[in-house]
Amino acid sequence: MLRIENLSYNIADENSEKEILNNVTFKFDKNKIYVITGPNGSGKSTLVKNIMGILSPTGGKIFLDEEDITNLPINERANRGIAYAFQTPVTFKGLKVKELLDIASGKTNDFNTLCDYLSKVGLCAKDYINRPLDDKLSGGELKRIELALVLARKAKINIFDEPEAGIDLWSFDNLTKIFKSLKSTNIIVSHQTKILEIADCVLLLKGGQIQKVGKYEEIKPYIQSSTCGKLRGQDE
Ligand SMILES: Nc1ncnc2c1ncn2[C@@H]1O[C@H](COP(=O)(O)OP(=O)(O)O)[C@@H](O)[C@H]1O
Ligand SMILES: [Mg+2]
Repeated sequence: MLRIENLSYNIADENSEKEILNNVTFKFDKNKIYVITGPNGSGKSTLVKNIMGILSPTGGKIFLDEEDITNLPINERANRGIAYAFQTPVTFKGLKVKELLDIASGKTNDFNTLCDYLSKVGLCAKDYINRPLDDKLSGGELKRIELALVLARKAKINIFDEPEAGIDLWSFDNLTKIFKSLKSTNIIVSHQTKILEIADCVLLLKGGQIQKVGKYEEIKPYIQSSTCGKLRGQDE
């Protein structure tokens, strides 16, 4: 349903051109969990930012359900069901958690529904629904609220760039449970073994190219031969 074809992303300065993504071609199927991994600087964030439209590719095409979305801005991609999670929703500062969840789901939710979203991320609804989004919330609380917003949004495609960052106070099992429960295509950039293990498909990126694709067990030896310490099972 989401297809990238010969996707390239180059950065040019006065003297030279640097290739960040080099002719990446891949098809993401519906309702599967994809984990993109690879050494630091291999182009993972650049790839997902191109899918969301935060960056524009210098070559190649992106298709969503056969529609060419390569030149669509972020908001148009969001309207078509692509969501990029774990961005602090700064523009919504001051709004209450309840209002944010209603905006994310596009309707007014009853208490039970709100409670359901919040309890899935380990927050008690009665303590949080009337809390404004402000700097009194801890980093961990913000992360969980952002995750609850993902649940409420019910996007077709959810993109997460290193969701494990800053979530150390909360259990990874809960995070992976949420990924598994999402009825969407999940594209997760991660180094975390526990997240790699739940992937239907792991993409190993190196030097701006997909080096290997497969289940974690198959990809593991290639990841372990990588130069990145984080990838050698040194979780957390
Ligand atoms: N705006 C930019 N200007 C110059 N280099 C960049 C820019 N954005 C990314 N890069 C470089 O592109 C490479 C890939 O970056 P990134 O996609 O963030 O890697 P990853 O997420 O895999 O760690 C890195 O070498 C990074 O330094
Ligand atoms: Mg990155």
